[in-house]
Parts: sequence; structure tokens; C-alpha cells
Amino acid sequence: MKPLLQVRDLRVAFDLGRHGFLTAVDGVSFDLAQGEFIALVGESGSGKSTTALALIRLVPPPGFISGGRLLWWEEGKGEPVDLLRFSEAQMRERRWRDIAMVFQGAQNALNPVMRIAEQMMETVRAHQAMPRDEILDRAARCLRMVRLEPSRVLRAYPHELSGGMRQRVLIAMSLLMNPRLLILDEPTTALDVITQAHILEILREIQEQMGLTMLLLTHDLAVVAKTAHRVLIMYAGQIVEEAPTVTLFESPYHPYTRGLLQAVPTLRGDLTGKRPIPGAPPDLRHPPPGCRFHPRCPYADEMCRRAEPELEEVGNRRVACHHWRRVAQEAPAQKL
Ligand SMILES: Nc1ncnc2c1ncn2[C@@H]1O[C@H](COP(=O)(O)OP(=O)(O)O)[C@@H](O)[C@H]1O
Ligand code: SF4
Ligand SMILES: [Mg+2]
Repeated sequence: MKPLLQVRDLRVAFDLGRHGFLTAVDGVSFDLAQGEFIALVGESGSGKSTTALALIRLVPPPGFISGGRLLWWEEGKGEPVDLLRFSEAQMRERRWRDIAMVFQGAQNALNPVMRIAEQMMETVRAHQAMPRDEILDRAARCLRMVRLEPSRVLRAYPHELSGGMRQRVLIAMSLLMNPRLLILDEPTTALDVITQAHILEILREIQEQMGLTMLLLTHDLAVVAKTAHRVLIMYAGQIVEEAPTVTLFESPYHPYTRGLLQAVPTLRGDLTGKRPIPGAPPDLRHPPPGCRFHPRCPYADEMCRRAEPELEEVGNRRVACHHWRRVAQEAPAQKL
């Protein structure tokens, strides 16, 4: 597979003034190959959105990217460029055309007094001069990709559409400039289960048909089971496990992944086994010493409290846990 983006040792901090520094993304590295569908999963506050915003260089102040490299392969080029070295003007050219993002909660951020057609028109015109008819053709094509009827939706106002339809409009808008990478931040959160499944199916279809690379952010591991090729698990600003989706569900190596899986009710359809992970993620201004997960981990011992585990490569996966071998043996297999 051809590489598209390699994230290397990415760091993002928020300068909270007298409240100190908060490191939201702390040394994150991962690869996206062309045409892959990757999920980034972790509880709320683990740093998913901040990671994604860093990829398009839109981390809001007082946040800033404090280190790392974003190696990006331009179309048809053999050598990557580092997105972090681009000027803001160069980066602006790449947003939406090369890398598009559907922001978390954006269904509610559509302009309430503008018809969808006008909003789609504005999106295109912000990037490229194009005749009205051509834009409308393109908008209609993108709406059909998300299974919306253009004749009805283009003249609608946002409040005339359901939450699921608004989310699909946003996905259609993100496709307008024909990007190579699409980032979706919690695209199904706040939607009912049936609408969620429908949107995931549409995303997978678009991904396969267009050969688009997708990065899906979610706190809900159930969402990725039938969607993503590969999963990255994030905890307290760091990647703690990475594996192909089927492998991850069948044999999680990290206790946190195992905990997330046990909190998933829908895989076998029974709610009785659902057990949320006790405790809460740490305050990222003062992460715990050693392994950041140790205060919540049933396997934690003295070594875990003292030494930070490295993200080790094990075959086609990665894991950051001193005791992953033990966890791997004990973890129950989840059949997909
Ligand atoms: N604008 C901000 N100002 C201060 N802290 C922030 C801001 N945005 C995010 N954070 C902090 O960064 C951490 C990661 O947040 P976020 O990336 O939103 O996580 P996730 O998307 O996984 O829920 C959290 O501790 C959050 O409080
Ligand atoms: S390193 Fe220790 S505390 Fe951290 S996840 Fe592994 S067993 Fe748990
Ligand atoms: Mg988020």
C-alpha cells in the first residue's frame, strides 16, 4: 500500500496560563496508507479531536503544536513533505482539497438561515472559482453519494432536516473538493442506533468506491467493528494499542482496550455483560507517573507505577503495556 500520511511524535499543548500546561497529544505516531479506513478510539478527553485538528493545523489557541512531523505524500510524488513546515497560506490550499474534516458536533453548526444549496456553494467558492451550475451539479453528486435526494435537500434549510440528514449533508460538503483524506470526528455520536448504522454503511461505501482514505474518531468501539480496517486506541494523549480491527476485537493486548471492549454492549447484543471501566481519565496537566493507565488498571504492579511502557511493535500490531503477554492470554475473544 502507498503511504499517504505519516504522523511522527506529534505533540500538542494548551497553555493555560496560571493553570499550567496541558499536553493533550503526547508523542503520537501512526501511518495512514492510501485507501485505508482507520479509527482512532478513546474515551472523551483522550486527545482525539486535538490530534485531528493538528493534522489540518487548526488547533485553537491557547493550543499549539509543540513538536513532531506530519509527512504527507502529494499526488504522484515519491518523497513526502512535512505539513508542519508549510506556511498558513500553503496549508489553506490543502485544507478541504487534500484533507477535509467533518468537525465534532457540526450538525448544529450549519447556518440556520441559509439553504443547503447556498452553503454548499459557499464551501466550493471559498476554494475555487466555478460557475453556479457546475457547483450545483457537483453538490448533487455528493448528496447522492450520501443517499440524499438533491432536489429536496438542496432547497431545504437545516431545521427541515433530521439530525442524521444534517450529518450526511456535512459529509457531502466535505466531499465537494474531492479530498484525499477525510477526517470524521464523532460522526454518529448523538444519533440513534439505526441512523448510526446507516451513516457508517454510507461511509464505508464511499470509502470503497472512491478509494478515499478515512480517519474516523469515536469514543465508541462498537462503531468501528464493521467499519474500520485498523484501529488506534488512544489514552491520555498517547497511542496505547494499534491492530487490525478483527485482531483487536479477538485478542486485545492492552488492558484499556480490553476494558473498552467489555463496555461495548452491542457486539453480542446483550447488555448484561456491559461493564464500564472504573475511574476516570487523568488530568492531563498532571498525568500519573509510569503507565498513565495504572490507577485504573487491574494488572498494575510496582513496575507500572514507576516506568512508562514503550509502544512496542508486535507482529502487525503495536502495544504499550509491560504485561501485554499476560493480558493477551487472559482476554476473552470477542467474535465480530
Ligand atoms: N481549547 C482547549 N483549551 C484547553 N484545553 C483543551 C482545549 N481543547 C481540548 N483541551 C483538552 O485537551 C484534552 C484532549 O481533548 P480532546 O482532544 O477534545 O479529546 P477527545 O476528542 O478525545 O474527547 C482534554 O484534556 C481537553 O480538556
Ligand atoms: S503497563 Fe501496567 S498499568 Fe499500564 S496497562 Fe499495562 S499492566 Fe496496566
Ligand atoms: Mg473529541
